[in-house]
Amino acid sequence: MTTVVSGIRSTGNLHLGNYFGAMKNFKKMQEKNNCYFFIADYHSLTTHPNPKDLHSNVKQVLVEYLASGIDPEKSTIYLQSDLPETAELYLLLNMNAYIGELERTASFKDKIRKQSDNVNAGLLTYPVLMAADILIHNALQVPVGKDQEQHLEMCRKFAKRFNRMYNVNYFKEPYPYNFGEKLIKIPGLDGTGKMGKSEGNGVFLMDDAKIIKKKVMRAVTDSGPKRKNQEVSEPIKNLFTIMEVVSEKETLMFFKEKYANCEIRYGDMKKQMAEDIIKFTTPIREKILELYHNEAYLRKVVKNGQEKAKISAQKTIKEVREIIGFKKF
Ligand code: TRP
Repeated sequence: MTTVVSGIRSTGNLHLGNYFGAMKNFKKMQEKNNCYFFIADYHSLTTHPNPKDLHSNVKQVLVEYLASGIDPEKSTIYLQSDLPETAELYLLLNMNAYIGELERTASFKDKIRKQSDNVNAGLLTYPVLMAADILIHNALQVPVGKDQEQHLEMCRKFAKRFNRMYNVNYFKEPYPYNFGEKLIKIPGLDGTGKMGKSEGNGVFLMDDAKIIKKKVMRAVTDSGPKRKNQEVSEPIKNLFTIMEVVSEKETLMFFKEKYANCEIRYGDMKKQMAEDIIKFTTPIREKILELYHNEAYLRKVVKNGQEKAKISAQKTIKEVREIIGFKKF
């Protein structure tokens, strides 16, 4: 069984883009692999959340991932901060991560621009902590999106450097997990780009029917096709893409044909789309609400996860310490 590690950002509610972009595939991934999923709450400190928000964000994400199908019996799900071994490995890896390469990381340069009033060392060493998350379980594969590819590349670099420095073949070089199917990038409802939390153009798994209807009915469209088989504009293409994942094939075909024949009524299409989204998210939402209030269950999940994660983390730390040369008196 291949060891797979995946870090989950703890930034509150998840949307359809998160679901179809990754979470949906985790269900399958955990069947064939030894998966570790953790909620990256240490990482979240780079933006200085207040203590109350920190906990509620972690809880929300935990509950939403469980509701989407991560099975704590099959996978190990834990909180990053419940595994301080990660922090120790981070310290050790920092000794041979170089300022120059960290400063050149795309995500760091981006952060300097976006939060210029808070360029902390945690941001600079974000990729080192991420490498520690992965190497603490000596994982071979990591499911990452485009925006995380450079971080994974740096993880390989740190692993290789460690091996070279101590002349060992200890850390594996983790590579991207291949879901075996093309990932669908879910667009937003605003006619451009991808669905995102900060863009405010998404449907959350937690949204109720009324909110979903309102959001979908407000989705950006165009003034309608003028001639038969006209090329589909960006906003309409986006709506079709969303329908592709939430609606029946026939429904999608029906509206595509209407479009081609210049008979489409966007209002009808949106109504249908809202209905299909609601049908899709309702069971997940119900599960989220149920889990949210089951404190005893959540406590058990997190505790079991920590215990399982500890086993592999402690083994790694013990071996790494030996390799580095720390010895007991
Ligand atoms: N940086 C990742 C993100 O923003 C989250 C993350 C932290 C992660 N540590 C990780 C992902 C380790 C994979 C493996 O989405």
